[in-house]
Amino acid sequence: CGLGELQINPWGAGANGIRLTMESALTARDRVGVQDFVLLENFTSEAAFIENLRKRFKENLIYTYIGSVLVSVNPYKELEIYSKQNMERYRGVSFYEVSPHLYAIADNSYRSLRTERKDQCILISGESGAGKTEATKKILQYYAVTCPASQQVETVKDRLLQSNPVLEAFGNAKTLRNDNSSRFGKYMDVQFDYRGAPVGGHILNYLLEKSRVVHQNHGERNFHIFYQLLEGGEEDLLRRLGLEKNPQQYHYLVKGHCARVSSINDKNDWKIVRRALSVISFKDNEVEDLLSIVASVLHLGNVQFAADEQGNAQVTTENQIKYLARLLAVEGSVLRDALIHKKIIAKGEELISPLNLEQAAYARDALAKAIYGRTFSWLVNKVNKSLAYEFPGWRSTTVLGLLDIYGFEVFQHNSFEQFCINYCNEKLQQLFIELTLKSEQEEYEAEGIAWEPVQYFNNKIICDLVEEKFKGIISILDEECLRPGDATDTTFLEKLEETVKNHPHFLTHKLADQKTRKSLGREEFRLLHYAGEVTYSVAGFLDKNNDLLFRNLKETMCNSENPIINQCFDRTELTDKKRPETAATQFKNSLSKLMEILMSKEPSYIRCIKPNDAKQADRFDEVLIRHQVKYLGLMENLRVRRAGFAYRRKYEVFLQRYKSLCPETWPTWDGRPHDGVAVLVKHLGYKQEEYKMGRTKIFIRFPKTLFATEDALEVRKQSLATKMQATWRGFYRRKKFLHMKHSAIAIQSWWRGTLGRRKAAKRKWAVETIRRFIKGFIYRNHPRCPENEYFLDYIRFSFLMNLKRNLPKNVLDKSWPTPPPSLSEASQLLRQLCMQNMVWTYCKRISPEWKQQLEQKVIASEIFKGKKDNYPQSVPRLFINTRLGNEEINAKVLQALDNEAIKYAVPVVKYDRKGYKARARQLLLTQNAAIIIEESKIKQRIDYGNLTGISVSSLSDNLFVLHVHCEDNKQKGDVVLQSDHVIETLTKTAMQAGKVNNVNINQGSIKFTVGQGKEGIIDFISGSELLIAKAKNGHLTVVAPRLNSR
Ligand SMILES: Nc1ncnc2c1ncn2[C@@H]1O[C@H](COP(=O)(O)OP(=O)(O)OP(=O)(O)O)[C@@H](O)[C@H]1O
Ligand SMILES: [Mg+2]
Repeated sequence: CGLGELQINPWGAGANGIRLTMESALTARDRVGVQDFVLLENFTSEAAFIENLRKRFKENLIYTYIGSVLVSVNPYKELEIYSKQNMERYRGVSFYEVSPHLYAIADNSYRSLRTERKDQCILISGESGAGKTEATKKILQYYAVTCPASQQVETVKDRLLQSNPVLEAFGNAKTLRNDNSSRFGKYMDVQFDYRGAPVGGHILNYLLEKSRVVHQNHGERNFHIFYQLLEGGEEDLLRRLGLEKNPQQYHYLVKGHCARVSSINDKNDWKIVRRALSVISFKDNEVEDLLSIVASVLHLGNVQFAADEQGNAQVTTENQIKYLARLLAVEGSVLRDALIHKKIIAKGEELISPLNLEQAAYARDALAKAIYGRTFSWLVNKVNKSLAYEFPGWRSTTVLGLLDIYGFEVFQHNSFEQFCINYCNEKLQQLFIELTLKSEQEEYEAEGIAWEPVQYFNNKIICDLVEEKFKGIISILDEECLRPGDATDTTFLEKLEETVKNHPHFLTHKLADQKTRKSLGREEFRLLHYAGEVTYSVAGFLDKNNDLLFRNLKETMCNSENPIINQCFDRTELTDKKRPETAATQFKNSLSKLMEILMSKEPSYIRCIKPNDAKQADRFDEVLIRHQVKYLGLMENLRVRRAGFAYRRKYEVFLQRYKSLCPETWPTWDGRPHDGVAVLVKHLGYKQEEYKMGRTKIFIRFPKTLFATEDALEVRKQSLATKMQATWRGFYRRKKFLHMKHSAIAIQSWWRGTLGRRKAAKRKWAVETIRRFIKGFIYRNHPRCPENEYFLDYIRFSFLMNLKRNLPKNVLDKSWPTPPPSLSEASQLLRQLCMQNMVWTYCKRISPEWKQQLEQKVIASEIFKGKKDNYPQSVPRLFINTRLGNEEINAKVLQALDNEAIKYAVPVVKYDRKGYKARARQLLLTQNAAIIIEESKIKQRIDYGNLTGISVSSLSDNLFVLHVHCEDNKQKGDVVLQSDHVIETLTKTAMQAGKVNNVNINQGSIKFTVGQGKEGIIDFISGSELLIAKAKNGHLTVVAPRLNSR
């Protein structure tokens, strides 16, 4: 295929990857045969075809395609290919990407149903035991697992699945061909809603093989339900039904001599059926009614007759009648009579005649068949009711039909049933031919596409042989059935020979040549079916076709109080004068309806092949298989596939689906769809031999081409989806962004407005304030008035705040902020208050010692400040309490002073009054006197009362004179002393003696009394350094150094 170069995916990546996957799968396939017969090199060779099947079968690859038709070979063993994971693998995946499987067909149909909304059907054909029923069940399971579900859908799925075991129990039986052979045809519609969920279903049943109820060939069984009931039914139930556990007890169950089969577990199956009945909404009483009917069939089988003297049949098994009366809810005696009499209405009169033994047995069996057959139809109806979609009409549904009909079968003895079954298969084959081969050619012609005709066998000729009006076998049979007079199976055969003797597909003993005649009995006719020859024995044809039930038995059943029987036998039947349609005609009509149903749908095919007759695994019986390949028309099918085109699509549909793969056609193509498709396939790079353009459709030769295109579409879809997502996201984000932007702008402008207003208000306020300030400043010296009150307040406030921050730290700190004029008075007051406060605080902190010190200092200041040169030097030096401790004063002195406390003691130098000799002395001040001490002697005691004054010079010397009252002779006169701490000593002395006002500070010289009226003079002069000496004039001259401070 040209898709290699095709670059299917011009707008994206991934096509190569897909191609590689496909190709590698192809290589792998070679080892185990090709997975599509279309890929067979030698596609015309049947041997190659079968060899491919064998290769695959050996590898347990039971599925192979012919294009879109699935060929399935029954493996007769459980394969691990039906798991949930497997189902998931096939879900939504293109045919060719995974190996062939039922699930691929199922999924493909399902997808067509969903995407094109066209009803589908899957036709499963193949001979008995080829695996049709199994395939149907697996497809249903696939849908149950993979389709979308909801609570309601789950119930429907359950019912769809559970309808199977019930219908199989009543409609399937063990035959020689198949242990679970479907003895009725089944067409099941599954309804899907618009979401693709299964929401309902409907089953059509076709011709149940009723004869099995009363007779089975050797090695075969009756319908499963009888054995299941006997094996699995609870004792209580069996007692109610009057049944025994042993199937051997029942005539209807022993005809085939194989009531028990190893491959069947009736007990287990019973449980499954019992559970399934509840799922498909059977109530307990309905189950009981249904089982009563099943039991009644068994009892009927055991009804025996004996002939009386007249040869008329009499019932000998009264017990059975009793059970039957109860189970069928009819009058026992009426039933008994009905079984042994025949009622005929002739000219409005009822004629009752007795039956002979044979007739009675026939009547009994007819009743058993009628009861069972009608109950089976009732059962299908009941299932349909439980599957019915509850909301038809208001929601359109699409349906997918599954046809599982009895396969073509050939036995040693083939009767009416096989005739019907094989006729049915002929019809299906014809449908297959019509839908695939013939219609394919016709379509090519209609589309104007060159076509090489493919030879195929059209089985219409056989169908016509069976069903043609007047000339067909069914017509002839009906005619014989209706004909008055003695019509028998043999007359029927003769009539057949007469009417269709020249038909190439018809043979009888009489018509056959010498050689073939041997293989044909005189009571037989042979049809050359498309699937092979089958020889039918005409015995029973008329009876079975008439399907007669004597009138009185019908009447009895109509009176039954068993609700199911009551519904099955309608009273109108009794009054209806028209002859009922014969079984074959009914079947023919129902088949033609089925064909209509199938034709209205898009079909998919599963062709089942049975690998061997022994039901054994791993056995590939080539002869058997070749036969099936032939009659299934698989080779023709393949030839057509290879000659023609695998796929076709209307231009509109094709373009609509794939237009996104080409820029010119995407998103819309304005021209004719035909041209659009031409552009599209050119762009996709389809090669000339890969496709053809018809009148209304494009034809694609190989499935591969289409699948590659599909794959490209898948990839493209992804990128389109991404693009759409991106566009939408962009749009959505932008919308959100614009919204946010608007909001942001709104918030911003509001906030800016607020800020602006705030700022404007602030400015206005500032202007007002400044204006007031300036005005206030201008009016500052006016009395308080509105113009200046703000300013004044502000000035006051700021002065006070400034003052608060800059208050003087202590009394010596004389700083004080300058007050505004209006506050000068207040400032003054505050300042005083502040000072007082500081003083007060200071005073509060002062200690007594310090107070004393200060008092002394104050006195010193009063006496000396500005008067004596060395006073300033003394100011920073603290006055000491005493300069001499008691230990430095002679003990004797202390003793002499007795208790007189020494207030102050200081070493001094005493100058003699006469010679001015300097002598070291101690001056002690007591409470009462100043005492001069020399060592241990008290040299002079000056009571303060006698101290008349103290003289001192104004210079920086340390000399001083204590003036003593001279009238007291005891006194030696004034004392000239020198102290290093003259200010301290004098202050203390003056204070102690209470002579503060008596301290004289003299300039130049001091006169003093030497004693007895004599005077001394001390002259003070300033000099460079201290010098104390007696001058020539007899005065004491003191040169006092000049101090800088002065
Ligand atoms: N896919 C399968 N895997 C395993 N076993 C299978 C498969 N298909 C069929 N079988 C076996 O083959 C038997 C017969 O299959 P089935 O009943 O489906 O045949 P049929 O075609 O319906 O026959 P009939 O026409 O008689 O009804 C099954 O009971 C089962 O044992
Ligand atoms: Mg079947």
